[in-house]
Amino acid sequence: MRPTTEFHVDLSDEQVAFFRENGFLSIDRITTDDEIAWLKKIYDQLFIERAGEAKGFFYDLAAPRAHKGRDLLPQVLGPDMRVPELRESQYYRNAVKLGTKLLGVDEEISAGGHMIYKPAGYGAETPWHQDEAYWNPNVYLNSLSVWMSLDPATLESGCMQFIPGSHKKEVRWHRHINDDPLIHGLLTDDVDPAEAVACPLSPGGATFHHSRTLHYTAPNTTERPRRAYILVCSGPTKKRAKPAHRPWQAEEREALAKANINAKVF
Ligand code: NI
Repeated sequence: MRPTTEFHVDLSDEQVAFFRENGFLSIDRITTDDEIAWLKKIYDQLFIERAGEAKGFFYDLAAPRAHKGRDLLPQVLGPDMRVPELRESQYYRNAVKLGTKLLGVDEEISAGGHMIYKPAGYGAETPWHQDEAYWNPNVYLNSLSVWMSLDPATLESGCMQFIPGSHKKEVRWHRHINDDPLIHGLLTDDVDPAEAVACPLSPGGATFHHSRTLHYTAPNTTERPRRAYILVCSGPTKKRAKPAHRPWQAEEREALAKANINAKVF
């Protein structure tokens, strides 16, 4: 059963200013230990079931679609479509409340979720990228991602790392991991990792990052899995006069069509 204890959290003006300046923010806690315990059960069940795989809602981010063998960085899209109660969680409510404040949007916005699992010992890195490189090239976005860990997230298990201020520039040139468009994961070479700021978290802690903030997580070399539950908060979009040039998206669509694989690109 879902724990019903409410957990209140708010952001100071300094935290909001930090996010606007740096493109990321880390907070110690966004929900309760009880809710984390409840979420872990749902989370593990979705990955055991490979929820929605036939419809393209479950796949490995770091290996070619429909590959054989163990998953290096599996992802479940839209877990709240399978388990609508997730939208009642303190995590969801607080993420939307704080996300709305950080985006500077007047009306409360909706959020869509995904879960990224980094297996103990061999979970792959998520290379440097900007989330917007994956997303709809036809609009200007006002979006951020909330990233909560269900496990201790350290440098060695794959906590989030950010490049401060990178959200103020354009979307950089991206390519698919291994230059294979059947691998959904993107990376950019246009980054200086020496500028990275790491944000370790305890379970129930969270980071926020803007859709253009460069970020990375290292391979999981620990003996524990690293389970992350991400919510994307989106304010109103504005249509672009012409689509942003992101040819890696078309390359992926073409490769998927050729391989006859049913999958979502953005
Ligand atoms: Ni990302």
